[in-house]
Amino acid sequence: GQPGREDGGQGRWFGYDIVAEDPETHARAGVLHTPHGDVPTPIFMPVGTKATVKGVLPSQLEELGAKIILANTYHLSQRPGEALVREMGGLHEFMRWDGPILTDSGGFQVFSHADNVRLSRDGVTFRTVDYDGTYVTWTPERNMQIAESLGADIVMQLDQCPGYPSPRSFVERAVELSSLWAERCWQSHTRADQALFGIVQGGMHLDLRLRSLRHLEECGDFPGYGIGGYSVGEDHETMFETLAPLVSDHMPKGKPRYLMGVGNPTTLVRGVACGIDMFDCVLPTRTARMGTAFSTEGKLNLKNARFTHDHEVLEPGCGCPACAGGFTRAYLHHLVRQHEILGATLVSLHNLYFLLELMRRARQSILDGTYGSFVRDWMDLPVSREF
Ligand code: GUN
Ligand code: ZN
Repeated sequence: GQPGREDGGQGRWFGYDIVAEDPETHARAGVLHTPHGDVPTPIFMPVGTKATVKGVLPSQLEELGAKIILANTYHLSQRPGEALVREMGGLHEFMRWDGPILTDSGGFQVFSHADNVRLSRDGVTFRTVDYDGTYVTWTPERNMQIAESLGADIVMQLDQCPGYPSPRSFVERAVELSSLWAERCWQSHTRADQALFGIVQGGMHLDLRLRSLRHLEECGDFPGYGIGGYSVGEDHETMFETLAPLVSDHMPKGKPRYLMGVGNPTTLVRGVACGIDMFDCVLPTRTARMGTAFSTEGKLNLKNARFTHDHEVLEPGCGCPACAGGFTRAYLHHLVRQHEILGATLVSLHNLYFLLELMRRARQSILDGTYGSFVRDWMDLPVSREF
């Protein structure tokens, strides 16, 4: 089970402190303490699935103000294998990122590999269609072993993420399996320097979400909770119908809440208002590699001929290395059209900065007690409807 918060008198290895609550919304500003440093919340976490945030150096992540990044146990256990990562000194040392890391469990691959997955009470068997096509079977215990070998600061339980729409009985079964696996992850997790988060499932059914949360609370004293099973095909309003009451009325206040796989700027702004503390998504880096930049004008598809002679930077006033460095839209248009790798890097840096800065400004407005008007101002911008 999970050990206590103290680390032999050397200070807290994990904990969450709320430093301000917005008077009008459910937003809170906090600090997450990890063995690799403190994380201010709300926070956006860049995704480094295969132990690299694609095209971006760790020193550049630091320059952007990233405080914590993600990696994935499914992918890293496939290549290069968790034994190799452990042999090389663990994930932090291997990838040369000395800040906090969170590893996701592979519960999302249960969704993305839906046609190549077999589930049982004992775990999940994947056909590794994205690697060599062989079969791998994970019990919750095996998943925890991998997470411990990788050595992230925060690790997620093995869960089942159902897609949308799914029959209610299928979602109910996903809640049951995820609860069972939460308990087995909790029992088998041993590393005192890692925080294990449970994951709330339940699709778009509030009663199933509450059942899932209650199971997690019964099975152990998880130091934080993921909220999974969203952004799987539903529209935003459908998501907020269950997300808002789940978070603001039912989740324990003193623990961090992590909305998994959501990186749309408008959803971040609204999620923070519900009381979400952590977000991650491949959106900023994936769209950057496709040549699309975030801006307060909306998304800019840099392949478009209208940028051929554009002297502006992506977003005037932006502090990212692409904009502060004076790289014009015309130059980026050229790089993207020629598939030059620097184009992907510069746009990735800009898009990550956009979300990191959005969360920094959100946090400041929570500290000022003005988050309600922050949300209204964002929703009044035409850009809010472009995401
Ligand atoms: N990433 C996005 N959604 C999910 C989810 O439901 N479970 C896990 N493990 N990861 C996710
Ligand atoms: Zn920029």
